[in-house]
Amino acid sequence: MTTILDGKAIAAALRAAIKQRVAAYASKPCLAVILVGDDPASHVYVRNKAAACAEAGIQSREIRLPATTSEAELLRHVQTLNHDDNVHGILVQLPLPAHMHSLSVIAAIDPRKDVDGFHVVNAGKLAVGEKGLVPCTPKGCLHVLRTHLGSLSGKHAVILGRSNIVGKPMAQLLLSEHCTVTICHSKTQHLAEETRRADILVAAIGKPKFVTGDMVKQGAVVIDVGINRTPEGKLVGDVDFDSVSAVASAITPVPGGIGPMTIACLLQNTLEAYESIVNHEA
Ligand code: GUN
Repeated sequence: MTTILDGKAIAAALRAAIKQRVAAYASKPCLAVILVGDDPASHVYVRNKAAACAEAGIQSREIRLPATTSEAELLRHVQTLNHDDNVHGILVQLPLPAHMHSLSVIAAIDPRKDVDGFHVVNAGKLAVGEKGLVPCTPKGCLHVLRTHLGSLSGKHAVILGRSNIVGKPMAQLLLSEHCTVTICHSKTQHLAEETRRADILVAAIGKPKFVTGDMVKQGAVVIDVGINRTPEGKLVGDVDFDSVSAVASAITPVPGGIGPMTIACLLQNTLEAYESIVNHEA
């Protein structure tokens, strides 16, 4: 029997725990989200983030800027939020318009408020094993894996994708859980041989149904980070669910797998940022 890893249920439990922790504080955490331009998918994400905050008792602010905003103007907004003691988390929704440099914008965020965990200070802390803010999607994947497997020690984890947002931080997290980690990417040779070695396979490449059953070892645990829309408008992952679920011991569905975990981990990061700021930890 293949276990369908119910990210929605795991995320709901995490959100309930966060809500309870938030309720214990007299003052409340506040997340500020900056949205530049009018990418429709980004608008949906930002709306979902605000709704999730409200439900957990976390305050949120939304700053909408036109696509024509200069990078200097965006950086001024970031600085204002950095210095605002009532804001504990800052998220600049990506992608930014083509004339902006997302790395420079991320670098301007106070690392203590960097709830995406994208700032080099947080990436560095993750790399050396110091406490910091960890990117939400890999953090959510790890939570699902630990919920299902308990200890991950000694497992061979194979990650498809080497992005700064998912692949690289996922590798660091799994290393810290004592996995043996392989990162595969578009130039990897003999890819299926690599993926067939995985006890844990994480797919984060943005290619619909790319991972098929013949690429997966019998009994592997498969985490699908992909969110792709087919020409018919259906959401599918990077994993071909039907063929892979025939060989995997456990698999996350799309939708209802990692997506809800990412939002829950954003709330968790906002709470962690709030706690370390009010307790003067960082
Ligand atoms: N766009 C898509 N996913 C993300 C994310 O996790 N963080 C930000 N800032 N933008 C995104």
